[in-house]
Amino acid sequence: MTEPRTPPLQSRLPQVGTTIFTVMSALAQVHGAVNLGQGFPDFDCDPRLLDLVNDAMREGLNQYPPMPGVLPLRVAVAAKVEALYGRRYDPDSEITITAGATQAILTAVLCCVHPGDEVIVLEPCYDSYAPNIELAGGRVVRVPLTPGTFRPDMALIGAAITKQTRAIIVNSPHNPGATVWTRAEMQQLAELLAPTDVLLISDEVYEHMVYDGAPHVSASSIPALAARAFVISSFGKTFHVTGWKVGTVVAPAPLTAEFRKVHQFNVFTVNTPMQHGLARYLADPEPYLQLPAFYQRKRDLFRAGLVRTRLRPLPSAGTYFQCVDYSAVSSLPEGEFCQWLTREIGVAAIPLSAFYEDGFEQGIARLCFAKRDETLNAALQRLANL
Ligand SMILES: Cc1ncc(COP(=O)(O)O)c(C=O)c1O
Repeated sequence: MTEPRTPPLQSRLPQVGTTIFTVMSALAQVHGAVNLGQGFPDFDCDPRLLDLVNDAMREGLNQYPPMPGVLPLRVAVAAKVEALYGRRYDPDSEITITAGATQAILTAVLCCVHPGDEVIVLEPCYDSYAPNIELAGGRVVRVPLTPGTFRPDMALIGAAITKQTRAIIVNSPHNPGATVWTRAEMQQLAELLAPTDVLLISDEVYEHMVYDGAPHVSASSIPALAARAFVISSFGKTFHVTGWKVGTVVAPAPLTAEFRKVHQFNVFTVNTPMQHGLARYLADPEPYLQLPAFYQRKRDLFRAGLVRTRLRPLPSAGTYFQCVDYSAVSSLPEGEFCQWLTREIGVAAIPLSAFYEDGFEQGIARLCFAKRDETLNAALQRLANL
């Protein structure tokens, strides 16, 4: 008898290892550090939302929902998007509920990218984009956002568009840069794409975290972009329930039809009671309308503390992230600095270089302020020792 043997397999994603988020969270735990690395709240969601999901479960809403998502939630999303961004999406043919934004982005990429197609990403960027494109057999074309400001350089984006370009992935408000695209920038993108067949995958998971009275300019609010866009959002971010993994994709009917072909054989459906609970919760717009004020107060508390340290806070116009320039403190490369900060100072952060394929170094670390005030104050107290 020969020993049972696991056959070797050739990796589809040979470059992918353990993510920096897992590494830093583990290190934070070992050293008892305040974890401002991974981007999730350390406080609970509105108990009313829990009650609504619980009600749905007890009402027996626990079996497979329709493939695109439960109708009340698609109707609620249609009303919300129309009220906020002025475009009416048809709940039947243009709105799909997904297992978080991560699945939505992968599904959007898989449904439109063929082997050899090029997809433009703007670096630094969320770590799932490039592997998603590679899984589809596409080629990742990396265009840098302007170092220092993280603003899009339209000339560079324009120069990257070729006959092979199938799509561009844009993320505003931006993780990790904490920038928010202006209407003028979104319009410039529309003009750039107008003569092409390039699709837009617009990652808007932080749509309700925009500060200082600025608007979130959704791709759905610009008709020339909306016509070619998968617009993606995440209830996990908006309602402090990142572990629920429920997101949305709104897109014109022909794009949605292709999206759903992949979606139905990818996850098929997303958990039923959460969808009903979210649909009922959305009847009141206050929770998401108040989110900018809620997070702006935390941002301001955190920044007020940071200016008393030797870290230099960069602008944070959106998202729940705050980048800091640490060049006055250390000349270590970003990865080493973040490990040192976790070990010696007791605050975990994420090196910005992790969001660049080539590990571009700028002496910047990303901190997350979606934390209780006590957590932020504890971190600030430690950072004051720098
Ligand atoms: C830019 C960006 N896109 C997508 C996601 C994923 O969202 P979800 O948790 O809904 O999958 C995140 C989460 O960190 C993110 O930062």
